[in-house]
Amino acid sequence: MLYVRRFVLFFLFLGALLKLQAQHTGEANYDESKVPAYTLPDVLKTTANLDVRTKTTWEQVRRPEIIKLFEENVYGQMPKAVDRLTYSVTRETASAMAGKATLKEVLIEVVHNQKLVKINLVLFVPTKLKVPAPVFLLINNRGKENTDPTRAHKSDFWPAEMAIDSGYAIAAFHVSDLAPDDTARYVNGMLQLYPEQVTATNGMRAIGAWAWGASRVLDYFEKDPAIDARKVAIVGHSRGGKASLWAAAEDQRFAMCFSNCSGNTGAALSRRRFGETISRINTVFPHWFAKNYKKFNNNEDSLPVDQHMLLAAIAPRPLYVTNASKDLWADPRGTYLSLKTASRVYTLYGIDANLPANPPGINQPISNASLGYHIREGEHNLTAYDWNNFIKFATVHFNK
Ligand code: GCU
Repeated sequence: MLYVRRFVLFFLFLGALLKLQAQHTGEANYDESKVPAYTLPDVLKTTANLDVRTKTTWEQVRRPEIIKLFEENVYGQMPKAVDRLTYSVTRETASAMAGKATLKEVLIEVVHNQKLVKINLVLFVPTKLKVPAPVFLLINNRGKENTDPTRAHKSDFWPAEMAIDSGYAIAAFHVSDLAPDDTARYVNGMLQLYPEQVTATNGMRAIGAWAWGASRVLDYFEKDPAIDARKVAIVGHSRGGKASLWAAAEDQRFAMCFSNCSGNTGAALSRRRFGETISRINTVFPHWFAKNYKKFNNNEDSLPVDQHMLLAAIAPRPLYVTNASKDLWADPRGTYLSLKTASRVYTLYGIDANLPANPPGINQPISNASLGYHIREGEHNLTAYDWNNFIKFATVHFNK
């Protein structure tokens, strides 16, 4: 009997050891049967345990509460005050893309606490459009050549010609203008304007900084008569897709949001612990999220939020999220379930997204409801296929 007990204890011990080791080596789970049982925080119940049944309660109580919870525990504060925002068009070419577009390169300067941050915006506007243009704004987390204003270099990461031909303006800024994507240098950007954020446990870091930058570009759009500032779609891929969600959740002026392969702390549910985990993301990218977020390393169940609540905070605005079939790191199933769960909040607005219980097949986009989704065949990337579907979705929902 004693032997049996020792035997069992030994195996329990071994199991715990292996689990610990897996957590430390960052070994990811890709096995659906190993997804632990979990309970998501109820998006339609306030912290005081009240049921949210109307959009008024959602807007006045639950939504602000959710934004605060994300600020406090995940992305950090979003500073609202700026002393001065000015902009200057540094180059304008009326005959870009063989006359199909006007190119504007705009320098947006934001001053606060006597410190300055410069955001360089590249913007193409369709010439044939006689009304202010709806616009796609990309948070560019890849090389600057992807948004080449001269068009000598063309890239599917930002297919400007495709947008122009479809009647949309298209714009981009680079994340490094706001916060260099580096564990040490991330402070050398907009955080110089808000140094208190760097030390605060609930202070913003790089992802928050990029989202903040998107809002400053939107400030500029509100002043540019060529742009319809009520039709700004924010777009981001992967780490940029985490930022596009946070920007849209936090700043309700964004009319639409696209989040491509955003994965952990983007659109995917953290509690599933499938693919990338909170502990791994905080270890490899300690400069992305608030210090407080580290409390939830290997401790997902104690988070007062999960990512479906971030998506819900975008309601009732149209939201489109994607995955790629070979990108299990970003947990496609967990992304889709997150979207499906967020749809309960859209229902308060009379929007029945009618999302099926299970994700659609590969290359079968869902785009007629306000919550759109596709899983594209292939690798982790932002491609012409993705953009093509973004444009289709925007055309349906901007014209409603
Ligand atoms: C890493 C990271 C992801 C991120 C991705 C990217 O894989 O773990 O969270 O989304 O980089 O930005 O491409």
